[in-house]
Amino acid sequence: MPNEIIPHSRPLLSDSDIKAVISVLKAGQLSQGPKVREFENKLASFIGEKKAVAVSSGSAALHLALLALDVKKSDEVIIPSFVCSAVLNSVNYTGATAVIADIDPHTFNMSVESTKRAITRKTKAIIVPHMFGCPAEIDKLSELGIPVIEDCAQSIGAKFKGKRAGSFGLLSVFSFYATKVIAAAEGGMVLSDSEDLISRINDLREYDNKDDYILRYNYKMTDIQAALGLSQLSSLEKFIERRREIAARYFQEFKNCNFTLPVREKEKDHIYYRFVIKTKDRASEYLEKFHQKKVMCRRPVHIPLHVYLNLPGFPHTLEAWHKTISIPLYPSLREDEIEKIIAVVKEIF
Ligand SMILES: Cc1ncc(COP(=O)(O)O)c(C=O)c1O
Repeated sequence: MPNEIIPHSRPLLSDSDIKAVISVLKAGQLSQGPKVREFENKLASFIGEKKAVAVSSGSAALHLALLALDVKKSDEVIIPSFVCSAVLNSVNYTGATAVIADIDPHTFNMSVESTKRAITRKTKAIIVPHMFGCPAEIDKLSELGIPVIEDCAQSIGAKFKGKRAGSFGLLSVFSFYATKVIAAAEGGMVLSDSEDLISRINDLREYDNKDDYILRYNYKMTDIQAALGLSQLSSLEKFIERRREIAARYFQEFKNCNFTLPVREKEKDHIYYRFVIKTKDRASEYLEKFHQKKVMCRRPVHIPLHVYLNLPGFPHTLEAWHKTISIPLYPSLREDEIEKIIAVVKEIF
């Protein structure tokens, strides 16, 4: 076992998760039904929002959240560069133009200043991802006078100034992809306090048997996924506690290593979805060394959005892209794996 590859991430599935899925299979209500409604209610109350609509992915959640805000071709939506392409896709699905903002060099979250500069008369929404488990400057970003969609795909359970991420924006979205903080294989959800926005999203998801025709989307979640998501949600606090325990060990063990550790800010309760370090040189060389030692580290973002779009500038995003590495950190890591990760990181740095 010590010589096995340690993956960059891996879900933690318990016997009760498996039982929950089997019980749906036995009951025979496979598609969207009572389990989906229960999952919606439980997540909404955990985050502190009134209403929720479960969908098939985080990408679908972002798409419907933008449509609920009536985002269309002539509009602009501000998003950060240092995030996965799903966020850019969601804007492009609507036909609107994505306007890209740079990041804060320490937290790697969207920069408030860069976002401010990106605002024009056409700006219809800002998508604020809380990256790697660390809340963004959501209070300042919410005060810019533009509707905010919080993207909590990587930060379910994180808190900003004592309040859950996902309870600040007009809408918030979540992802339950297999290696996210809680897994439903695939899945997503939109939360809001606004009955009006939620009923629009619900209408766009419920495409069948309608009296009128508008373009609607089969983005439904199945009861099989919801049962798994619900069961995982009941373990969320435990998962976060374990992530924080492992992070605390990494902070202690890596304090003399030649890289910058993740920032710790009092007002932000990080859940360490990713443990992102910033190296002095190019990350690619280190990634190769980790690979040889069978510890699968990764760039935290594969390619920044402004690079895909061939846009000049974005110095903080470029620096983060070239120099950051995500070290494996997840609740299913065994003790021997944690020890191996620590030993390999110390050897390389
Ligand atoms: C910040 C962020 N937003 C949105 C998504 C999209 O979620 P999904 O993969 O469920 O479509 C992801 C996940 O890849 C993500 O990391």
